[in-house]
Amino acid sequence: MLQDKDRVFLNLYGLEDWRLDGARKRGIWSNTKDLVALGRDKIIEEIKESELRGRGGAGFPAGLKWSFMPKENDGRPHYLVVNADESEPGSCKDREIMRNDPHMLLEGCVIAGFAMGAHKAYIYIRGEYWLPTQRLEAAIAEAREAGLLGPDACGSGWAFDIEVSRGAGAYICGEETALLESLEGKKGQPRLKPPFPAAVGVWGCPTTVTNVETVAVSPTILRRGAAWWKGLGRPKNTGTKIFSISGHVNRPCNVEEEMGIPLRELIDKHAGGVRGGWDNLQAVIPGGSSVPCLPKTICDDVLMDFDSLREAQSGLGTAAVIVIDQSADIVEAIQRFSHFYMHESCGQCTPCREGTGWMYRVMSRMMKGQAEVEEIDTLLDVTKQVEGHTICALGDAAAWPIQGLIRHFRPELERRIAEYKAGRTPVAAE
Ligand SMILES: Cc1cc2nc3c(=O)[nH]c(=O)nc-3n(C[C@H](O)[C@H](O)[C@H](O)COP(=O)(O)O)c2cc1C
Ligand code: SF4
Repeated sequence: MLQDKDRVFLNLYGLEDWRLDGARKRGIWSNTKDLVALGRDKIIEEIKESELRGRGGAGFPAGLKWSFMPKENDGRPHYLVVNADESEPGSCKDREIMRNDPHMLLEGCVIAGFAMGAHKAYIYIRGEYWLPTQRLEAAIAEAREAGLLGPDACGSGWAFDIEVSRGAGAYICGEETALLESLEGKKGQPRLKPPFPAAVGVWGCPTTVTNVETVAVSPTILRRGAAWWKGLGRPKNTGTKIFSISGHVNRPCNVEEEMGIPLRELIDKHAGGVRGGWDNLQAVIPGGSSVPCLPKTICDDVLMDFDSLREAQSGLGTAAVIVIDQSADIVEAIQRFSHFYMHESCGQCTPCREGTGWMYRVMSRMMKGQAEVEEIDTLLDVTKQVEGHTICALGDAAAWPIQGLIRHFRPELERRIAEYKAGRTPVAAE
C-alpha cells in the first residue's frame, strides 16, 4: 500500500482547509519561484524522466507532450488548457482535487504553463461541477491577491493568469479539440488532426490540453524529483494515481494508491470489498465506461496500470473502477453504455453517428434474446468498423465495451437467444 510519506494528494477528502492558508501548510506554493527558475528545458526534462503519463485517459507521456509546444515564439501567444470536463461515467477524481485542494491545480498551472511558454491557462470545467468551480474561482482570487498569479507570478518574473470556463454538459467536450471549439464559444465538435493543438489550438494558437490530475501532480514531482516518482509503480507506469471505485462494493471511494496495485487489493483494502465477497464478483470495468470489462478470472490477479490492463485487453483509462457483482445484468449494463454513446455522439462522422445508434438497437435486442446467434459476430464486426474509423475516440469508446462483453460473456448472449427461441423470457444469469 502507498505509504503516507509518498502521498501527493494530502487533502483528497476535504478534511482540512482548502484555502490558501491550508494549502501552504501542505507545502503547496512553497518554492514555486525556484521551480520556475529551473527553466523550461529542465522542467520538461524532469517530467520526461519521471515517466509521468497523462491522467486524462490515453496515458500519453506528459513530458513529451509538453515538449511539442514551439520553442521559439512566432508572435502567437501560447496557452495551457486544463481539461476538467470529467464526464466519463464512473470518473470523479478531478472533482475532488478541485473542490478540496484547488491550489494544487493552480500551482501546477503556473509550472506547466511556464514550461510551455504560456502566460495564460484556461481551466475548462464541466458545468455541473458548481462547488469545484466556486472554489477554483475563490482560490484564483486568493492567488492573485497574494501575487502567486499576475504580472510577476510567485516573484518569478513570469506573467501568468488563469481563467475558469464552464462547459454545458456534453461528454464530447472532454475530447481535447471539441473542448477547444467549446472554449471558443462554438458547438463542441472535435477537429480533424493534424494540425495538433500544439501547432494550432485555441484561437489558432499553440495549445496543450491536459488533465487536472496530470497538472496537479507536476509540482510535487519537481519538488521531490523524478527518481522518487519512478520509485513508485513499474517502469513506464510510475507514481501514484487516484482511483475512483464505484458500483457493487461496500464502500465506494476515491483513493490515491501506488500505480500497479493489484485490482483485488485495491477493492478489498479501500472499498471494503465486493458486496457479498470476492466470489460474488462478476466483472470489473477498470477505467471508466469506455474500456472493455474484465471477468472475475482476470480480475483475480490483474495489476492496475496502463500496460498491465492493455495486456489484459482493457485499459486504465481514467482509473474509474466500476465493480459489477453477480446480481447485475451485465448485458443490460453494456446496453446502457451503448445508449450513452449514441446520445453523446456529436454526429459529425458517419461510422459513429450511424454505428452508435445501430449498436444500441442491436444491444437492446440482444438483452432480451431477440436476435440470431450469428448476429453476435455481425455486432462484433460493426464495432470493428467503427473503431479507428472516426474523427475522435468516441467511436472507439462506443465499440470497446461491446467488444469486451462479447469477448468474455458470449455464452450469456447465446443463452438469452436460446431462451427466447424456446419461448421463455430470458433473465440475467444468477
Ligand atoms: C469522448 C472523449 C471524452 C474525453 N473526456 C475527457 C475528460 O473529461 N477529461 C480529460 O482529461 N480527458 C478527456 N478525454 C481525453 C482528452 O481528449 C485528452 O486526451 C486529455 O485531456 C489529455 O490529458 P492528459 O495528457 O493529461 O492525459 C476525452 C477523450 C474523448 C475521446
Ligand atoms: S467519432 Fe463521434 S463524437 Fe467523435 S467526431 Fe465523430 S461523430 Fe463526433
